[in-house]
Amino acid sequence: MVKILITGSLGQIGSELVTILAKRFGKSSILMTDVKEPAVKNSEDVEFSILDVTNADSVRSIVRENGITDIFHLASILSAAGEKNPQKAFAVNSTGTFNVIDAASSLGINRLIIPSTIGVFGPETPRDNVPDITITRPTTMYGITKVSAELLSSYYHDRFGLDVRGVRYPGIISYLTPPSAGTTDYAVDMFYHAVKHQEYTCYLSPETTLPMMYMPDALKSLLRLFDAPASSLKHRLEYNISSFSFNPQELYGEIKRHVLDFRVRYEPDFREEIAKNWPRTLDTSEAAKDWGFSPEYSFKETVSDMIVNVRKILDLA
Ligand SMILES: NC(=O)c1ccc[n+]([C@@H]2O[C@H](COP(=O)([O-])OP(=O)(O)OC[C@H]3O[C@@H](n4cnc5c(N)ncnc54)[C@H](O)[C@@H]3O)[C@@H](O)[C@H]2O)c1
Repeated sequence: MVKILITGSLGQIGSELVTILAKRFGKSSILMTDVKEPAVKNSEDVEFSILDVTNADSVRSIVRENGITDIFHLASILSAAGEKNPQKAFAVNSTGTFNVIDAASSLGINRLIIPSTIGVFGPETPRDNVPDITITRPTTMYGITKVSAELLSSYYHDRFGLDVRGVRYPGIISYLTPPSAGTTDYAVDMFYHAVKHQEYTCYLSPETTLPMMYMPDALKSLLRLFDAPASSLKHRLEYNISSFSFNPQELYGEIKRHVLDFRVRYEPDFREEIAKNWPRTLDTSEAAKDWGFSPEYSFKETVSDMIVNVRKILDLA
């Protein structure tokens, strides 16, 4: 029987992943955990426990006591929050991820899924059509901890046979749970301001292009990777994925087709420094070849769908 542990399950990705996993495996097969209590009960009524991944004993106990077979490790401090508190980012992203990897390996977990990020890239990485294996010398604490998670995953796979898998997510656009403090959050913020007919002050420059993806494709991809035969995977966490790339000016232009009076002004801050060291476009061909990555939503479809759903969420439909 499958029993899946999700760490950091109350975040932008976890709060939506839990619904898909509960539908597929049944709610009694999922254990949601996070360092904080949920603000509202999850719609699937899945069991929830507090778990701080920086505590190695707690990680091991929860895996052992609940008969966990598979783990989605989503607990993380994202890029912008990591620059505000690098010590905490190291504790959660490095120590916490080590605790999860080590517990998964020694307790015989079937599959451990850990999302990585375009934050592993840095100023020396090429900016366009970036392949999976390239220069990964980031300058943020977030990036440093995520490169170390990639390397640790390869180490535990090669040394101990741990089946650990992941994708390098680009910026993820979604409407259900607000993004926490990443560098690509502006994209989601813009929709909320537009739908409320508020002017938006963008913290990136109008021409800063980044790879992005809509949440349904982000979740579908993670599940597809989860299902892939181990023998088809050539990388552990180093699979680049993205659906399209755009800059704030292009997103503004597309949203304005739906909200005619929308206005944006630009006041770049420290997040511009982070974003300008990340790639503009990614080569996703290895993910397509090895486990069938194929996103469905185009840029235009994502924008239309977001407008409809943000209006619904805000009761403005
Ligand atoms: N959202 C994106 O755009 C994006 C892009 C690239 C990669 N990723 C990766 O995807 C994964 C999930 O990201 P997300 O967007 O859902 O993040 P998020 O910040 O929305 O959620 C992370 C969750 O981790 C929890 N957490 C923090 N410290 C913890 C601790 N000590 N123990 C347990 N839980 C703790 C938080 O409470 C939060 O609910 C991360 O590994 C992130 O690096 C996300």
